[in-house]
Amino acid sequence: MDKRLQQLTLEEKVSLLSGADHWHTKAVERLNIGQIMMSDGPHGLRAQFGDADHLGLNESEKSTCFPTASATACSFDPALLERVGAAIAREAKSLGISMVLGPCTNIKRHPYCGRNFEYFSEDPHLSGELSAAWIRGLQSEGVAACLKHFAANNQEKARLINDSVVDERALHDLYLPAFAHAVQRAKPRSVMCSYNRLNGIFSSENPLLLDQILRREWGFEGAVISDWGAVSDRAAGVAAGLDLEMPYVGPEHDQDILRAVQEGRLSEEAVDRCVERILHLWDNAVEKTPCDFSCHHALAQEAAERSAVLLKNEEDLLPLNPKMSVAVLGGFAMSPRYQGAGSSHIAPMQVDLPYEELKNCGLDVAYSEGYGSEELEPDEEKIRAAVALAKEKDCALIFAGLPERMESEGFDRETLALPQSHLRLIEAVSEVNPNTVLILSCGAPVQLPKPDKVKAVLLMYLGGEAMGKACANLLTGRAVPGGKLAETWPKAVEDVASHPYFGYDSFRTEYRESLFVGYRWFDTAKIEPAYPFGYGLSYTKFRTEQAELSSAEGGYTVRLRLENIGKREGSEVVQVYVHKKNSAILRPEKELKAFQRVDLQPGDGKTVELFLPTEAFTYYDVQAKSRKIEAGDYEIRVGTSSNVIKLESEPKL
Ligand code: BGC
Repeated sequence: MDKRLQQLTLEEKVSLLSGADHWHTKAVERLNIGQIMMSDGPHGLRAQFGDADHLGLNESEKSTCFPTASATACSFDPALLERVGAAIAREAKSLGISMVLGPCTNIKRHPYCGRNFEYFSEDPHLSGELSAAWIRGLQSEGVAACLKHFAANNQEKARLINDSVVDERALHDLYLPAFAHAVQRAKPRSVMCSYNRLNGIFSSENPLLLDQILRREWGFEGAVISDWGAVSDRAAGVAAGLDLEMPYVGPEHDQDILRAVQEGRLSEEAVDRCVERILHLWDNAVEKTPCDFSCHHALAQEAAERSAVLLKNEEDLLPLNPKMSVAVLGGFAMSPRYQGAGSSHIAPMQVDLPYEELKNCGLDVAYSEGYGSEELEPDEEKIRAAVALAKEKDCALIFAGLPERMESEGFDRETLALPQSHLRLIEAVSEVNPNTVLILSCGAPVQLPKPDKVKAVLLMYLGGEAMGKACANLLTGRAVPGGKLAETWPKAVEDVASHPYFGYDSFRTEYRESLFVGYRWFDTAKIEPAYPFGYGLSYTKFRTEQAELSSAEGGYTVRLRLENIGKREGSEVVQVYVHKKNSAILRPEKELKAFQRVDLQPGDGKTVELFLPTEAFTYYDVQAKSRKIEAGDYEIRVGTSSNVIKLESEPKL
């Protein structure tokens, strides 16, 4: 037991269970217990030393704005996420911030969720690997991560009261595994409980989530923190293992805890356990350390380049021929959308403007606004001017996507459509210029215009402060796109299995689609999406040979040869999916269980090895309440976005 516990009065202990203000824990001076400061997260720092808020409204210190998780997930590159995490930690330390509130590990259940830009993927394996990498990077610099929002927080509508009604299979096979992976592999020092209820009980007082699963089953040893204002019954929270309430909302909740102990409804040991875990956070407080922010802009650019997804490239229009004259169109070319709105909103160090960066690449460019970056309705005058310019030039680059007003923490989207102002511009320009390229900035899937006369589409998602330079490099071939979609892009929202049950009631959301989220649904139901999970083009070409499967300790090894047979350097993501033949239980058609991004120079080849642990074959057995392996034949489907690779042998378990 921590000796300090004996020296603290019950009142002092209870007072430590809530923050001092918006961003700090409380201090106990007589025992030399100081405060720690925490900050959002997770794509850079939102450190507030003045007026505080959790909506991204008030000023914050300048920091490097990295691409959001929806973008970096497409890198399929844990090592990159680790470097980004470490860079954010260095910036945090320079401001004396001991904890960064991230990563956001929730599964994208539906493309409308307003916060999807902050989440990695619809797939738990990918989300878990990338979350763990980010945490490892952050904590390697001594700064605590806070894995959030635990759990089943998949919509913004009525997020403070909504009850996520999730069946046990979906919970254990889809919504929890990414958190489990991050906790077990990267050991975050804290976890943030979500606002919502899970099957009737608020996460902030849910013993199944906070005690049974998180601590007993996964062995989590850190502190659990409430989402900002997520507490309902504080004493029940302490009993369940919610250590710290954030932010400070007045003395009432502390008094509730005190009363519950005095009346014998809550044990003092439960209070002690929470205090001990909070003291441990203080013991690991950072020392303020200067940091050179300047190299982080280059890392933000690298992350944006590695995360961009080339969705379409007819007649190899990209990379642009440097001799082409180029019309640069759309308000986003001058006033780019590069980050999300809400608690992760950052005051960036510097923002690269796509138009300026294209000019700096030596292209013959001219700009016409086409739409104002905040305008949703078409302005025919601006469109006419853009069309006139597009007619004169060899190629038209249209910067479009979703303005902040259409996508934010705090509300869900209501359509997959682009705003009319962007749509009209794309339609009108692609009608007159056969070499039209669309550069998309948005945090989640959108519907592309039909009929589709655009020849190339480069998806930047929300690419961070260096997105302008990154996309100029990608368009001109100074960088080669290699990102793959970390979520399915549906043709129509009605194709999404959760659609009928998404946000239809403010109090209760039944996850009736169960396991069938993202590609798990599209593959099983054989619905063709606009662009599938794992998809993305390159400027070069790869050849793969037959893959081999061999037994290894604790699982299997998939081995295959990959060659870059094109003229450019580039990268490919090898993806390994497991399919159970003739399964007797409800299962998706296939599930991603391993991946590796491979970089290759032209003419080079490499034998790639991926490990498939036995765990990859398990499912959650609701009767046994544990993970089991169904006996029988399995198929290992290995592929890249464009290739399905044959396997010589199949496992029988
Ligand atoms: C968000 C959290 C965030 C917190 C503090 C909440 O509204 O859900 O993700 O960390 O505010 O800003």
